[in-house]
Amino acid sequence: MKRVFSGVQPTGNLHIGNYLGALKQFVELQEDHECIYCVVDMHSITVPQDPKELKQHTLDIAALYMAVGVDPKKSIIFAQSTVPGHAELNWILTCNSYTGELSRMTQYKQKSHGAESAPTGLFMYPVLMAADILLYDTDIVPVGNDQKQHIELTRDLAIRVNNKYGETFVVPEGRFMKAGARVMALDDPTAKMSKSAPNEMSRISLLDEPSKIKKAIMRSTTDSDGVIRFDIDNKPGISNLLSIYSAFSGKTIEQLEKDYEGSGYGQFKKDLVEVTVDALSPIRERFLEIRGSQELIDAMKNGTERANAIAEPVIKRVKDRFGLGI
Ligand code: AMP
Ligand code: TRP
Repeated sequence: MKRVFSGVQPTGNLHIGNYLGALKQFVELQEDHECIYCVVDMHSITVPQDPKELKQHTLDIAALYMAVGVDPKKSIIFAQSTVPGHAELNWILTCNSYTGELSRMTQYKQKSHGAESAPTGLFMYPVLMAADILLYDTDIVPVGNDQKQHIELTRDLAIRVNNKYGETFVVPEGRFMKAGARVMALDDPTAKMSKSAPNEMSRISLLDEPSKIKKAIMRSTTDSDGVIRFDIDNKPGISNLLSIYSAFSGKTIEQLEKDYEGSGYGQFKKDLVEVTVDALSPIRERFLEIRGSQELIDAMKNGTERANAIAEPVIKRVKDRFGLGI
C-alpha cells in the first residue's frame, strides 16, 4: 500500500481553499493508502505565536481533520512536535541544502518581504517540510498548488542524499486536485484565498455561519459581461466561483456552463451559496462535537505512537548512512 503524508499549519481557521486543495484529498486517499496527517506546529512558530492559542489551534486542526472525514482508525493524526524525528532529520537535511536554492523559494520571498533580517526559521521552513515528508518514506503528498515548489525541493534533497550516501530516501510525488488546487480570494480573484488576508469577506472558513457564507459569495467580485463561462484570464471571478461550485457539487465545469446558459450571476451565486452551505454544515456540526472531546486527545496520542513507530527505523537508517552515532 502506498504511503501518504501531508500537513497543515495550526494557524487560524481553515478556509475552503485548504479544504478543496488539500483536506478533501486526505479523505479520498485514506480508503486505499496508508495515510499520515500531521498538524505542523513547529512550522507555525516560524512567525511568533501565542503559546496558549497555538495549543488550541493544534487541537482544532486535528478536530477539523476528523470533522471533514479523516478517520483516526484508518489514518494517523498527530502533532509534528510530538515526534522527535522531524527535528532530527531537519538538521541532517539542512546540512545537505544550499542557501541559494532556499533563497529562491517564493513563499520565503513573500513572507520575508526581502528583509535582510528575516527570521532564520522562515528561511529553513522548506527543509523542515522535506524532513516531515522523507521521515515516513512517503510516496504521495496531497497539497494545494502553492506547495509545488516545496515538493520539488523535497525531491531534490532526497535524490541528492541518495546519490551521495546510497539509497536512503523514497522520492515522493505531489498530488494536486483538478478543481480546487488553487482557490482564489472572493474579493480579488487574482490573489490566492488565504488565512491571513485582512478582509474576512475574501474567504469562506470551514466554520462560517450560513449568513457569512451568503454575504461573502453574493458580494464576490465578478465582471460586467454577465455570461457564466470559465475563462481564467478574462473572467477570473466567475472562473473561481465555477471551480468552487464544481469542487463542492461534483459537476464538471462544462456541465455547469450548460446549466447556467442564459441565467444571470445572481441566480448562479444564490445556488452556489446553497451548495456551499450544504457541504459545510455537517463539517461544522461534527467539529463542534469533536472539539474538546476525549476522542480527539486519544486519537492524537495514538497517532503520535504510530507515527513514531514508522519514523524511528527511518531515522536509524539515515544515521547509519551518515555515520552518525556509535
Ligand atoms: P496552510 O494553511 O498554508 O498550512 O495550507 C494547508 C494546505 O492547504 C496546503 O496543502 C496548501 O497547499 C492548501 N491551500 C492553502 N491555500 C489554498 C488555496 N487558496 N487553494 C487551494 N489550496 C490551498
Ligand atoms: N508547507 C505546508 C503549507 O504551508 C504545510 C506543510 C508542512 C506540509 N509540512 C508538510 C504539507 C509536509 C505537506 C507535507 O501548507
